[in-house]
Amino acid sequence: MVPTSPAEPVPNASELGGTPYGTLPPASPMASRKPISLPRILEMRSRGEKITMLTAYDATFAAVADAAGVECILIGDSLGMVCQGLHSTVGVSLEDMRYHTASVSRGIRRAQGTAWLIADLPFGSYQESKEQAFRSASVLMQAGAHMIKLEGGGWTTEVVHFLVERGIPVCAHLGLTPQTVHALGGYRVQGRTGAAADILKQQAHALEDAGASMLVLEMVPADVSAELTQALQHCATIGIGAGKDTAGQVLVLHDMLGVNLGKMPKFVRNFMLDASSIRGAMEAYVAAVKDGSFPVNALHAW
Ligand code: KIV
Repeated sequence: MVPTSPAEPVPNASELGGTPYGTLPPASPMASRKPISLPRILEMRSRGEKITMLTAYDATFAAVADAAGVECILIGDSLGMVCQGLHSTVGVSLEDMRYHTASVSRGIRRAQGTAWLIADLPFGSYQESKEQAFRSASVLMQAGAHMIKLEGGGWTTEVVHFLVERGIPVCAHLGLTPQTVHALGGYRVQGRTGAAADILKQQAHALEDAGASMLVLEMVPADVSAELTQALQHCATIGIGAGKDTAGQVLVLHDMLGVNLGKMPKFVRNFMLDASSIRGAMEAYVAAVKDGSFPVNALHAW
């Protein structure tokens, strides 16, 4: 029989100087990774290394995502559905976004994380004027965001230019834009006809010219997003239901962990099915996006 050494006493959270609730990892293994910055994201895009993004809304999940190697954390207004139980993102306020952005930012700092933090400007906080957009963006940047995201094309071009000129990095969002779900008539694929795809492409080019350095493409046909990804030289496309050929991918955390009691959207893969921990599921997501095995166009795209 192999002799066993006496078990090490396990220190409790307070002896470690930690907190009893949701103790964060003492230091992210990613701490040795250089902080993710905008030039690094664009350099990844140029090299063809896939960019990984997940949503997170609180300190602990953000720290775990960072430790799993996720490069970009989106404090998405999808928190309206997954945290607040709303039917859409329309009811999310700027104060809600500030609260969750500050929570994520604190979690990342406590865990010595390195992720790039993107916060959604919620409905009603930027549509009125570019000045209103700047005021709202300032609230989120001061809460710890590195970049803000806003939805829509055409009228948003001027707003993006105004923000970027004033030092606020911007991620645009085209295709299915959930804040306008009532105008779109539901959560459906956008840019399916030639004319709709042409408008989407024109808007994407205008947003890039205005200075947007990232562009979320949600529920856009895979061939349209592949073409845009090639065409946009200074803007990294991030797909969700937009096929495998975007510069990066994003999923809503609760969806990819299978914590979704409703119908799972076609573009989601439940990474918990083959994982023994939440961090393991996130690591599997990072690996699958990086090696191109997720998403699969035949399964997850249109
Ligand atoms: O709010 C959100 O989580 C998003 C993603 C779905 C891209 O905008």
